[in-house]
Amino acid sequence: MGDVAGTQVQTTTEQQGVSRRGFIKGVIATGASVSASNYVLRSGHGVALAQAPGAVERLVTLNVNGQQRRVDVMPQETLAMTLRYKLGLTGTKIGCDRAECGACTVLVDGIPQYSCSTLTHQVRGREVLTIEGLEGADGTLHPVQQAVVDLQGFQCAFCMPGFVMNMVNLTEENPNATRGECAHHLAGNICRCIDYNKILNVAEKACEYTRNGMRS
Ligand code: FES
Ligand code: FES
Repeated sequence: MGDVAGTQVQTTTEQQGVSRRGFIKGVIATGASVSASNYVLRSGHGVALAQAPGAVERLVTLNVNGQQRRVDVMPQETLAMTLRYKLGLTGTKIGCDRAECGACTVLVDGIPQYSCSTLTHQVRGREVLTIEGLEGADGTLHPVQQAVVDLQGFQCAFCMPGFVMNMVNLTEENPNATRGECAHHLAGNICRCIDYNKILNVAEKACEYTRNGMRS
């Protein structure tokens, strides 16, 4: 029974002008390009090789830190992965990778988002801001960055980029925030060094700098 089925497959393939041996050789020879392409075209015959679902990258354009960046992105790829490993923007950290710690926070159209839990395809056509994009064109620091420098507000600083990006949003939305309001705003960020007192000092100082019109 198996031989009959095998004969039918071979006959059908040969009717299409592609021998079984030749087909396998073609797959081996073109294996490297299969991962980057949906189809292997051989001897003028279109031999479509189905790929594993989700393995196909697609070239997209992203607006990151005011620049148009072209990058190949898989459907299930997170923004944190794209930023760090494809665009080289390693200021964005990955801590928990499941929307709990806030280390990966970036701004999307000005709103803080966990980039570990945001698909890159979701931010096409939107403005992404990472910590690398905070510095002014003339090299001046953002008020939040200046507050961090002035108060030395973090210990290991792994959590810092996420806190800073959330503070940027805080200073834009509520530069008159009280200490309690700062704490509430930053509740989605966790510091493993438990350095919250100094972090809140930074947040208050950043608000003060913003109120004073500082772009230090
Ligand atoms: S790494 Fe994204 S929330 Fe922790
Ligand atoms: S300063 Fe170390 S995790 Fe926050």
